[in-house]
Amino acid sequence: MPPVETIEWTGRDVRIIDQTLLPGKTRFLAIKDEKAMWEAIKKLRVRGAPAIGVAAGYGVFLAVRAAKPGSGAQAVRVALRAADYLATSRPTAVNLFWALDRCRAMVRGLPDAATAEEVLAATLAEALAIHESDRATCAAIGRHGAPLLDGVDGVLTHCNAGALATGGMGTALALIYEAAKKRRFTVYADETRPLLQGARLTAWELAQAGIDTVLITDSMAATVLSQGRVQAVVVGADRIAANGDTANKVGTMPLAILAAHFKVPLYVAAPLSTVDLSTGDGSGIPVEERGAEEVTSFGGTRVAPKGVRVFSPAFDVTPAKYVSAIVTEAGVLRPPYKRSLKEAFRAK
Ligand code: MRU
Repeated sequence: MPPVETIEWTGRDVRIIDQTLLPGKTRFLAIKDEKAMWEAIKKLRVRGAPAIGVAAGYGVFLAVRAAKPGSGAQAVRVALRAADYLATSRPTAVNLFWALDRCRAMVRGLPDAATAEEVLAATLAEALAIHESDRATCAAIGRHGAPLLDGVDGVLTHCNAGALATGGMGTALALIYEAAKKRRFTVYADETRPLLQGARLTAWELAQAGIDTVLITDSMAATVLSQGRVQAVVVGADRIAANGDTANKVGTMPLAILAAHFKVPLYVAAPLSTVDLSTGDGSGIPVEERGAEEVTSFGGTRVAPKGVRVFSPAFDVTPAKYVSAIVTEAGVLRPPYKRSLKEAFRAK
């Protein structure tokens, strides 16, 4: 675990696994500049909130390297410009902006006399530090959250919040990996329309890890819950507002409402870098809208009539009242989240 390195600095370039091709093809891409990184994020070749943050950190470094700046001041300008550019790739996962803010603050804090080489080295060190901290954070989320799955025979998850979505072992799936060290249980994976992160990525990732996995379509979740097949739902997050409202892959909110109806706890697993205390509640979270072709097609084949109008929000926002706990690297947070989230940041 993880089954593959989702993103890795090889010493020559940043290597990512192209997630749009999984599970059919395992193809790695050598990303050499910020434009290629922007494209990889935009097209979901690298995806999942924490992984997007890690990718953005490397993107800033690659921009400075590709520009071959003649002075330290110029290198800083390139880094800041790259950060602004990478920030336009996707709007919802706050980890992207968190990582870019870290890079901005780091280069702004460098001494005026720093050379171009020193700025370049500092941007690489920052990207590696973001990556390493994500790895440690995922492991801590797994450790803190696994006891929530004690005695559980079935767990339901949505989208992919695993190793593929992070720089480490995942967030929601970290709980599952950690709990699976002790005992066997079944994971029900929602296929996650329209881009099938559950069918293509979670089912693949869990199978690699030898975890008993059952794939269902999103609309089967009610049946699974009503039949008592699962005793917990675990999902990741793209942005958590100060009151605990949680943006995650579209389909999470109906799942949360269903889970509450059937009295099954729903846990959100996410690093504190996914928490946006500057956004008071879910109404302030920007939700990405995707292209119509992702809905009008299935597996590359057009299934809807030409000209049909499409609405395709990539995420939905689950009201905090449906979230039983938020599992972070700081521990398991309980409602009221306004208080517990603030306390977790204060204790950092
Ligand atoms: O559009 P995606 O595939 O980037 O969406 C990913 C999700 O919604 C994940 O559940 C979330 O980022 C958490 S990943 C640990």
